[in-house]
Amino acid sequence: MISEKDFIPSGYTHSIEKGDFKWSAPSNIALVKYWGKKDNQIPANPSISFTLNQCKTITSLSFEKKNPDGNFSFDLLFEGKPKDDFKPKIQKFFERIETYLPFLKEYHFTINTENTFPHSSGIASSASGMAALAVNLMSIEKELNPEMTEDYFNQKASFLARLGSGSACRSVKGNIVTWGNHKETEGSSDLFGIEFSGSVHTNFKNYQDTILLVDKGEKQVSSTVGHDLMHNHPYAEKRFEQAHVNLSKIKTILESGDLQEFIKIVESEALTLHAMMLTSMPYYILMKPNTLEIINRIWKFRNETNIPVCFTLDAGANVHILYPENVRDKVLELIKNELVGFCQNSQYICDEIGFGAKKL
Ligand code: DP6
Repeated sequence: MISEKDFIPSGYTHSIEKGDFKWSAPSNIALVKYWGKKDNQIPANPSISFTLNQCKTITSLSFEKKNPDGNFSFDLLFEGKPKDDFKPKIQKFFERIETYLPFLKEYHFTINTENTFPHSSGIASSASGMAALAVNLMSIEKELNPEMTEDYFNQKASFLARLGSGSACRSVKGNIVTWGNHKETEGSSDLFGIEFSGSVHTNFKNYQDTILLVDKGEKQVSSTVGHDLMHNHPYAEKRFEQAHVNLSKIKTILESGDLQEFIKIVESEALTLHAMMLTSMPYYILMKPNTLEIINRIWKFRNETNIPVCFTLDAGANVHILYPENVRDKVLELIKNELVGFCQNSQYICDEIGFGAKKL
């Protein structure tokens, strides 16, 4: 089994003075949710997600050798302008990954990042953001060790991204990604995400995700705090067991194409995630009245039309509407006619399954 040690380089065969890279990395939407973690960003249960296509972070990284002074040195730009409030997060990320990228203190970095989705849309940018930074850093390591294999590159990029933000490890490679030890998933690991290896039914080809932006405000409780509240949570152990079972089930469903069963697992996972928040101590609610309105409208529409559309939720009020490509027009009609009124400033984002990080 691959361990942390496998990601510590034993040395570099080449050196480089300066350079720059640019990568895009997408967001992802979990079907079976990661909620709760142990030390060092180890998930309390395995998860699986669809990689998105449109919601991306684009990050360029330039680097130049500096006098070694024992410190990390970097400038952070968001859409070309200095963004100092993001710096502590990057500083912490560098501290966590330094053992695995021992060259970090030898360079000054300029990180310039932008998102394709609207500002403060409430869409988590940590997954795409950390994944985009991780692949850039791996591009530098590849210059230092050019014989590195593509598999190692991707695995280590996912490993590093995880140390930035757990769900980011599912944003590096593949259209469906599993993360976390799972008995029935060969090669699965708590340390990095792996591509789903089964044959995926055509029902899931170009699967659609329309994200309804219900509330763009700052969340009252961050994911970090939320994960932490799973320690000593009265239902935690049962929940973690359930995630293992749901992952087994969804793997079978992805192969069989059974959309009715898919809907059951996906919606149950979303509501269970929020049920964990409702039953944490202190307890909290991230859904908004419009979140519930949308859910009820989706259920009504599904009952009346038999169209296999369902919802899932992140740790927030926004609703992801998931559906097969062949019912796209009808679902978009529902969204335009009935649901857009529940979105903040009528905003929603049309996305679909995508394929991971890309070098630009
Ligand atoms: C509800 O990955 O944002 O979206 O590891 O603390 O950065 P950190 O948490 P994060 O948690 C995401 C939780 C989730 C479910 C999921 O994506 O699996």
